[in-house]
Amino acid sequence: MNRVRRVYLVFLILPVLILISQFLVCKSETQESPVPKENLLVFTVATKETDGFTRFMRSANFFNYTVKVLGLGEEWTGGDVTKSSGGGQKVRILKQALKSYATEKELIILFVDSYDVIFASGPDELLKKFHQAKHNVVFAAEGFIWPNHHLEVQYPHVREGKRFLNSGGFIGFAPNIYELVEPWDLQDKHDDQLFYTKTYLDPKKRASLNITLDHKCRIFQNLNGALGMLGLGSWIGLCLQLNYMGNYIPKVWTFETGCTECDKDTISLAEKTDSELPTVFIGIFIEQPTPFVENFFERLVNLNYPKKQLQIFIHNTQTHHEQHVWQFVEQHGDKYQTVKVVGPDEEIADADARNMGIDLCRQDVTCDYYFSVDIEVVLQNRDILKLLIEQNRPILAPLISRHKKLWSNFWGALDVDGYYARSEDYVDIVQQRRVGLWNVPYISSVYLMQGTLLQSVLTEKDLYHAGSLDTDMSFCHNIREQGIFMYITNRHEFGRILSVANYHTDHLHNDLWQISENPQDWEDKYIHENYSSIIENKILLQPCPDVYWFPIFTEQACDDIVEEMEHYGQWSTGDNRDIRIQGGYENVPTIDIHMNQIGYEKEWQRFLREYIAPLTEEVYPGYYTKAFSFLNFVVRYKPEEQPSLEPHHDASTFTINVALNRAGVDYEGGGCRFIRYNCSIQAPRKGWALMHPGRLTHYHEGLPTTSGTRYIAVSFVDP
Ligand SMILES: *[C@@H]1O[C@H](CO)[C@@H](O)[C@H](O)[C@H]1NC(C)=O
Ligand SMILES: *[C@@H]1O[C@H](CO)[C@@H](O)[C@H](O)[C@H]1NC(C)=O
Ligand SMILES: *[C@@H]1O[C@H](CO)[C@@H](O)[C@H](O)[C@H]1NC(C)=O
Ligand SMILES: *[C@@H]1O[C@H](CO)[C@@H](O)[C@H](O)[C@H]1NC(C)=O
Repeated sequence: MNRVRRVYLVFLILPVLILISQFLVCKSETQESPVPKENLLVFTVATKETDGFTRFMRSANFFNYTVKVLGLGEEWTGGDVTKSSGGGQKVRILKQALKSYATEKELIILFVDSYDVIFASGPDELLKKFHQAKHNVVFAAEGFIWPNHHLEVQYPHVREGKRFLNSGGFIGFAPNIYELVEPWDLQDKHDDQLFYTKTYLDPKKRASLNITLDHKCRIFQNLNGALGMLGLGSWIGLCLQLNYMGNYIPKVWTFETGCTECDKDTISLAEKTDSELPTVFIGIFIEQPTPFVENFFERLVNLNYPKKQLQIFIHNTQTHHEQHVWQFVEQHGDKYQTVKVVGPDEEIADADARNMGIDLCRQDVTCDYYFSVDIEVVLQNRDILKLLIEQNRPILAPLISRHKKLWSNFWGALDVDGYYARSEDYVDIVQQRRVGLWNVPYISSVYLMQGTLLQSVLTEKDLYHAGSLDTDMSFCHNIREQGIFMYITNRHEFGRILSVANYHTDHLHNDLWQISENPQDWEDKYIHENYSSIIENKILLQPCPDVYWFPIFTEQACDDIVEEMEHYGQWSTGDNRDIRIQGGYENVPTIDIHMNQIGYEKEWQRFLREYIAPLTEEVYPGYYTKAFSFLNFVVRYKPEEQPSLEPHHDASTFTINVALNRAGVDYEGGGCRFIRYNCSIQAPRKGWALMHPGRLTHYHEGLPTTSGTRYIAVSFVDP
């Protein structure tokens, strides 16, 4: 592909030609154009009613243009214009159609492509601009020469604006336009733009036809090359949400959010009983090691949708995750209509597996929807399936983004190479400052497709390959090639997308290590559900003077930490302690494993900073801590090993001590006694932390564990 070719490809994908009136409209909507608008006739050639065509017609009808559509239903023989030149068919059809208008001197003909064009102003404006151009024929202009760049030398120079002819749109008097197309005697597969270009570059013809180019884009706004700047998300939004374009769009045509036009098309599932709900085929793709996979399946199980209406297909390339998949299948598999798993042994590549999933729906006429979801998607909204179905779009993705980041599962625009470009409204859409249903050129990670689309239109088996493009880009490329629109909705909160960047699988409970990479999911999984309310309500129990007691960890956090330590297994025996602990010491030896031994030091520090420090400042006013601690460890008490701890001070300004299992169930006895106050906490609650000053006043002892095994996590903060 050479450079120009690529540019052209984007040109065809996106609505690059927009008929607009750039400057005048805001001031003078009421001015009558010098030419009555009855004299304007719009022609377009469309062999298929693609989504792009529908959008074109919608905008034309909105502005009351009279449009004659030529070629509908005719087989397209104009070549594949996205891959090579072509389009001659359009000229042949137009020539035929214009014959009967050839003598109508007052009639003005506008010819435009329809798949990638929308009208952004009405006939009056258009005619006024044409009149001001003072030529009989005006062609759209663009900055790139196509298809024959050798012709560049023959092009007149322009001082300002775009120099080259673009045949995607032209306007002129009927006799002149007919004269323009009349000489066409080439084949359908020959290039229309080359034909018009040669006419324009012939000085005699240029003068006799009185042709000019719309160099300054006063009539034809070509977004080519400016895609990133122009907020395509809104330009191509189905609702014609044209209100965001600043200078480009007159304020009078705003369509504020609410977007009633789209709402007309939605359906409601509210009245449906479970068995009347459509059958959804869910394809789940585990293509890389991913944190929180168990939580993914938990959310899947909890979706608000009858399982008997769901079929599940799982592609898993990771042996590490087989346990999670099988746990799901064993516990819940029989509740679903069908479950099919393709595991790592089958060595099926990502794209092939995705094709396979889609094909299962395509082959099954009872499959109403195909829901593709990657394992890193957090399906937080339990109603996601119903909400998406109700929007009633052929291909629709819920907007999800990375927690507090702008990284999301759609692109608002493409650059000239077909890669990401930021559209002007991208940030507003991600942050839900603008809410709606958006037509976008790229979606990924999670989307819903209507079964009928797969069964009738997207019958081409291989949707996930396209040259050397990645799977996700191939998919979008192929969908765009078919002239089918992809939508993203941010009308609801749907969930988020995990970062899989720093996920390692060398521990037993690897999710514990995700506190920095995926803080929200880490918190959901590991921080006690009532932790946030103790901060908000400032209620901390105080069982002994200056000893605070509060919920901090979930059961899962406690269990995972204990299991991780037992899995590591190298409990201290007391005598090797000095070697292991650098920069600090314990006053009284315990049977323990330090966080740094399992490589959890950094993560634990972050935990202290994020979750402990704010509380400290709450209860010990005036003391500000960065919660620095190099003594962080899990202690194990057993009657036959070490049941208790003699009275001691801690090497800390303050200490936290989290109970990791259940008193009275996992062990008997245990607790902590503060000697100076003769005050004990005898039934520590699992997941709750004790926080107390380390030295001087809070001389304390560990009370004997009389049976079972007791675990606590301890940090000496600010030594
Ligand atoms: C289009 O025509 C209808 C009916 O005549 C009119 O109500 C509407 O305002 C027109 N639209 C525009 C954009 O001029
Ligand atoms: C085009 O025609 C207009 C009148 O219709 C005339 O004023 C103008 O000079 C012509 N331009 C050229 C380049 O022939
Ligand atoms: C959180 O607090 C509520 C209200 O006090 C209580 O019902 C609930 O059990 C608590 N959650 C846990 C996990 O302890
Ligand atoms: C400590 O408290 C216990 C009961 O709570 C009491 O029996 C004991 O006498 C107290 N000891 C001292 C030294 O006050």
